[in-house]
Parts: sequence; structure tokens; C-alpha cells
Amino acid sequence: MTTVSASAPGKFVILGEHAVVYGKPALALAIDMRFSIRVSRSDAYRVNGQPATPYNMSSHMRYISDRIGTTPVSVYVDGRVPSGSGLGSSAALSNAYAAAISALEGLPTDKETIARLAYEAEYASQGRGSPMDTSASANGYGIALNVPYREEDFLWHIEKDGNSWDVSKIEVPHMTFVIGNTGIKAATGPLVEKVKKYTESNTFAAGIVDEIGQVTLDGLDAMKRNDLEKLGALMTYDHKLLSILGVSCNELNHMVEAAIPYSYGAKLTGSGGGGCMVALTDRPEKVAKAIRSHGGTPYIIHTGVKGVTVKVREHEGHRHYIKKKGRDPAEDSE
Ligand code: MEV
Repeated sequence: MTTVSASAPGKFVILGEHAVVYGKPALALAIDMRFSIRVSRSDAYRVNGQPATPYNMSSHMRYISDRIGTTPVSVYVDGRVPSGSGLGSSAALSNAYAAAISALEGLPTDKETIARLAYEAEYASQGRGSPMDTSASANGYGIALNVPYREEDFLWHIEKDGNSWDVSKIEVPHMTFVIGNTGIKAATGPLVEKVKKYTESNTFAAGIVDEIGQVTLDGLDAMKRNDLEKLGALMTYDHKLLSILGVSCNELNHMVEAAIPYSYGAKLTGSGGGGCMVALTDRPEKVAKAIRSHGGTPYIIHTGVKGVTVKVREHEGHRHYIKKKGRDPAEDSE
């Protein structure tokens, strides 16, 4: 009997969300909140011991099972990334599930293969969007999309609907971030659609998308120089641009304003409409208190975490041993 365990991290976006959907630059970091999954073959699909339903087995998981053509599996899911919060929970789930099912079927589990499959699952489910979340979760650490990069930092190239993305690794200096969760769940698809309609009908909104692209390039430059003052100021400016695009909300604005006195800068992160904001700070406790006093839940997060990992375990009666399935994708970029 074979059991496969896989896990993948959530992420947050420092700069570039929404504009990245149109092929503009973006920067995202994997965070120490993960989705862990364990799968084994079964007579019927089960999730955490219960028969699978559309409620406990997401459309992403169904898409991946269908694409791979696996026989039914029993899945145990332990999700530590809050859903609908802009922290890439569906990307982390898709990566972990894609890696687990691929390994069970003896298929490749390298990061690029998993990132592509997870993106297809996200796209099929949302009907739109960029490969940022799935790439950040698959690779781990820090990634950039559509920025100038050194050849050795190139990860993969993805095309969809007339847009294309060059995904590359970025070196991230030590920085402290606090995420504030409004607790308001907001699905990504409708927010991306809202921005699409606005930019298609309004040249001013299309100009804001271009401006976010430029702010992101400036932010990458500031990060390379370890200029946290500049990077923070660009994050706060980016929040204003995203607000103009209509993807912020009162709760996010209040938490961003409350964090700014103790931060280099703060902004919403992810698709917005609720979900989370993020502050770059060297006073995390103060920021966490400010977020709490505005009704949010703060997480002092750590970056520099591994991307998707997978382990295959063969049971022989009561004994079992662990074997690595091909190359452990977690070790690719270490
Ligand atoms: C969501 O984390 C980021 C968005 O840019 C959507 C996407 O890139 O697919 C809003």
C-alpha cells in the first residue's frame, strides 16, 4: 500500500496584484502557512474520512484528478492557510494535491510540472487569473513575474489568453511583515472580473494598471538595494492605486491606516475586497496591536520557506519505509 504526503505554502503579494493578470510585473513571497495533504488509493473518493462532496472536495482537486486520470483516493487535508483571504489557499491546496496525486501515479513532481498543473486547476476554477499564486507556492521563497532577470534565476514561462509570464527567482533581504486578516472572505474570480471590466471600459483605469507595473519594478529595485523606506512607501502608494481600481474596502483601508505609523508601508495583499493587508515593519508587535484594535487578526509571518514537497511511503504490513519520488522538489532551489 502506498501513501503520499505533500505540502505547499501560501503566499502574499508585495507588489503587483491585479496588474499581473495583464502581464505586468509582480513580486510574491511564500509564507510559513501551509496546506498538507495525504493520499492513498481507495474504493471511492473520501476527504478526511467522509465521502467526497462538492463541499469537502474542491473543484481544483477534481480538475487535477480528472487531468491525471487517477483512480479514487482517500485524502486527508490539513489546511493552515485561511481560505478566501488573499493568501493563496487554493494555490497551496492545488500544488499539494497535484504533487500527491502525481507521485501516487508515478508521474513527475518537479516544481515546474506541479506549478503548471496547479495553474490550470486554478484557471479552470476561477475562469481567469495569472500563474502568480501557483508559481509562488510551487517554488517557495520569493518569485517575480515579468521583471528583468539573470539567466540563472529563470524558472518557467507560462502563456494564457494572449498574456505571458516569465517567472524568476528573487533574492529577498531579511524583512519582517505582519499580515492583518479582515476575516471577510472574498473570492478572487469576481474581483479580477471587476478590474477587467473597469480597465476595458476606462483608459484611466488601464493607466492605473500600467502605473502598478512601474511601481512594482521600482519596488524590486528598492528591495535589491535593501531600501525598506522606499519599498514601504511604494507599498502604500500601491494600496492607493488598488483602491482606485475598486478592490479595497473600508476594513482594509482602516487596518492599513492603523499600521502605517509603525511601518515602512502597508497595503492590501491578494485580490482584496476583504481578505488581508500586509505591513512591512520593524515593530511587528505594535502593528499587530493596531490591526487587532481595528478588528483584524494579525499574523507575524516568516518568509524564506520551501515550495511544494512530496514524500512517498510504502507500507509492508505494519512496517513502512519512506522513499523519495524522483527528486524531492523541495530541494531544487536550495
Ligand atoms: C490574487 O492573489 C492575485 C490576483 O492578481 C489574481 C491573479 O493574479 O490571478 C488578484
